[in-house]
Formats: sequence, C-alpha cells, structure tokens
Amino acid sequence: MSIKTGIHNGVASIEIARPEKKNALTLAMYDAMSDALDAARDDATVRAVLFSGQPGIFTSGNDIEDFIARPPGQGSPMLESPVGRFLMTLSNFDKPVVAAVTGAAIGIGTTLLLHCDLVYVADDARLAMPFISLGLVPEFASSLLVPQLMGMRRAAEKLLLGDPFTAEQAVECGIANAVLPAGELLNHARRMAERFNALPPGAVRESKRLMRAPQRELIAATIRSEGELFASRLRSPEALEALQAFMQKRKPDFSKF
Ligand code: COA
Repeated sequence: MSIKTGIHNGVASIEIARPEKKNALTLAMYDAMSDALDAARDDATVRAVLFSGQPGIFTSGNDIEDFIARPPGQGSPMLESPVGRFLMTLSNFDKPVVAAVTGAAIGIGTTLLLHCDLVYVADDARLAMPFISLGLVPEFASSLLVPQLMGMRRAAEKLLLGDPFTAEQAVECGIANAVLPAGELLNHARRMAERFNALPPGAVRESKRLMRAPQRELIAATIRSEGELFASRLRSPEALEALQAFMQKRKPDFSKF
C-alpha cells in the first residue's frame, strides 16, 4: 500500500509512501487519501490530520503514467474521478490539516498545501507547480489561491514559467509557516498537530469554517473550471508530447506547435 495511515494521540496521519516512484500519486492513492480524510472527519477522537512524505520526497505529483493511461475526466466529469474526489474532500475538510514537506513537492504536492492550515517545510524542500511545462493548466484552485497569496508577479514566475522555489521562498511567499532542519521536521509538525488536542474541537472547526467560508464557493467553482480545462489539455498534442517525453526520459519538443 503506498498510502500509510494511522491514528495516534488525536492525529490522523496520511503518509505518502511510494519512494521508488518518488511518491507519484496513482488513482488508488488519491482514493486512499480521501478515505482517510472521510474517516478522520467522522472520528471524534481525531483532532487534526498530518500529511507527510518520505525523507527527500514529499510527492512528485500525479503519476504521469496514469495521466497517459487513465486521464481524469475521460468518460466522466473530472470531479467524479478519484482525483476530483480528493480535491473536494480536502478543500472542504473542516478539521485542521498540517503538512510536513521534505524534498520535492511537485504539482499537486504544492497545490495541496494551499488547502492545509499549517505547513512546515524541511530545509531540503523544493516546491514547483510545473503544469505549464506539461502543456497543462493550474489545478486545485491554484490559479486563484497562488496570486492571492503572493501577488500576480510572483505567481506568474511559478505558474506561467513553472519555476521551482526553495523552502525559504515558500515561507516568504506565504505557502509555508516555517523552515525546519529535515531531521526535526516531522516531530515538529506532529507536535503542532497535537496542540489541537488541548483546544475545544467545536470552536476549532467553526473557526476554520469561518476562515474558509468567504471563498468556499469560489474555490469549488475554480476547481471545477480548472478541472474541465485540465482534462481537455491532457488530451492535447502539447501535453501528450510533454508526458511522453518524461516517460521516455528526453526533453519535450514544442517547436512543432
Ligand atoms: N509519475 C510517474 N513516475 C514518476 C513521477 C511521476 N510524477 N515522478 C518520478 N517518477 C518515476 C520516474 O519515472 C522514475 O521511474 P523509473 O525508476 O522506473 O525510471 C522514478 O520515479 C525516479 O524518478 P527520477 O526522475 O529518476 O528521480 P530524480 O530524483 O532524478 O527526480 C523528480 C525526481 C521528482 C524531480 C522527477 O522525477 C520529476 O520531475 N518528476 C515529475 C514531476 C512532474 O512533472 N509531476 C507532475 C506535475 S503535474
């Protein structure tokens, strides 16, 4: 199983564990994460959720082989796919979500952080949203939330050029709370998640709902419209060239488009 879950001391952990493929997310892994979030929501003993990856890799994003073989949105609306279910489940989750990011956090590895409440990054973290390089468009409401967080200019570097950024830059532009030495990251993130055990859970949930309410509908609508475009872009010649180039370990050639 490439998603490990557990509940310990009030914290439901969701650990991405597929290091041989750099923690790339398959459809089954999205479903496993959604199942874990649903269970955490319904379990009164769970006060917070903690996302983590493996040393040196948070996730390399959506599994590119899956993108080619089973693109979300094929045959049914994108939001009915396991990816869509995960996007809606996390963005509507009303208990606190903490993320501990080590190494590369690519694509949805970075955009999922926009929907977490507390984000801690290791000093080796490298974040990127290189949808553009794959012939795709931003997802998970990142086209809305990234410009809001850091302004249009810095968002353009990350979404239009697809530039990667460091742990320090992630804090500076508001995606993360703090940078920690890699060896201390997980314990720190867990301690922060466990702080919710001492707080009144109803007030925490209502506060999170209030903080998110003004944008809830807008985020859902953005996820939907991005998803439709993303699904159609996945079938575009540009994207097929980019995805096949990755699998064939060569540089994509966009000169013919
Ligand atoms: N989907 C499917 N397989 C992936 C993957 C992904 N997103 N990311 C990595 N892998 C696989 C590689 O194909 C390789 O498989 P192999 O050993 O069978 O050849 C293995 O994981 C190791 O990856 P590799 O690229 O050799 O590791 P690296 O340390 O040189 O680079 C990354 C790590 C994460 C920087 C690089 O793998 C990468 O850029 N991945 C793709 C990121 C991406 O574009 N994601 C989609 C965003 S929308």
